Amino acid sequence: MSPSSNNIARARAHSNIAFIKYWGNRDHSLRLPANSSLSMNLKDLHTTTTLEWLGAAGADFLEINGAPADPGALDRVSAHLDVIRRRFGMQSAARVSSTNNFPMGTGIASSASAFAALSLAATSALGVDLRERELSALARLGSGSAARSIPSGFVEWRAGDAHETSYAETFVQANHWDLVDVIAVVSRRHKHIGSSAGHLEADSSVLQSARVASVEGRLSAVKAAIASRDFEAFADIVEEDSNLMHAVMMTSKPPLFYWDPLSLRVMQAVRNWRAADGLRVCYTLDAGPNVHCICEAGDAAAVKANLRDLSADVEILQSSAGPGACVLPRVSV
Ligand code: DP6
Repeated sequence: MSPSSNNIARARAHSNIAFIKYWGNRDHSLRLPANSSLSMNLKDLHTTTTLEWLGAAGADFLEINGAPADPGALDRVSAHLDVIRRRFGMQSAARVSSTNNFPMGTGIASSASAFAALSLAATSALGVDLRERELSALARLGSGSAARSIPSGFVEWRAGDAHETSYAETFVQANHWDLVDVIAVVSRRHKHIGSSAGHLEADSSVLQSARVASVEGRLSAVKAAIASRDFEAFADIVEEDSNLMHAVMMTSKPPLFYWDPLSLRVMQAVRNWRAADGLRVCYTLDAGPNVHCICEAGDAAAVKANLRDLSADVEILQSSAGPGACVLPRVSV
């Protein structure tokens, strides 16, 4: 990751899908997670961010997909830039222009790719070349899952117990296993409760302690399944971990229900395709109703055909495993 100069840099980071979920923090302000997690970067879903340090203090500017960002998004980005300004002892405002290549409003989380790209663009524009683990920890402060979008391929975020020890690293590279995420977009509605608010509620569920107490076993098992490309073992653990996170969400106070009726139909269909038809596919859901159907590349066409047969209301996105964050050639903002 080579730094850029002249106070401007452009960086790209990819979204990721967690197989072992991050849910709840032991320290909310530092985003130290309740548990370690593991994900796959999504090659075909990414955010590209150009950032210019303007040289004088003042308000930051933020544009997303060519339009001025709403105040909430600007505040969150400015708060992260404040962290970077404090860390590097500077006060300059920034102009930030960010584009997502995946359709906006599809309920596909963009905070992971967004804060990973922002962290890399902001430090590169300062001429700073952070080590990967430092950049991952920095991105974590903007959005927890962004820590996992810095390294490449299949990525493990060890929870750690301090800012410096809570960062993500590559477990295996993307070409180790040709897994594909076939995303069944069942609803375009925005999350009523975003992840940040959801993390605050996790400890109000009596199930969170049981989920966290058992996560290391699932993490080891999913790593072993990935290492040996054992899809059957992988599928059972990934679905269990997703179900456990959603059980915590549904039993939080107040409860959080992220599934739509169609989400459940897809989940049941996926299990049936695997059990009855021998199609090697499993599901996992983040803090939203869309169902990520994970399969090997050779089965993706069959999974997509099945989804289309199941419902005309399902829109489909697809991505294979992908690289980490990178600096791109500079262009003017
Ligand atoms: C359900 O990283 O989006 O997708 O740190 O508040 O930005 P913030 O939360 P975020 O949480 C992701 C939660 C999840 C599971 C996961 O990706 O591990």
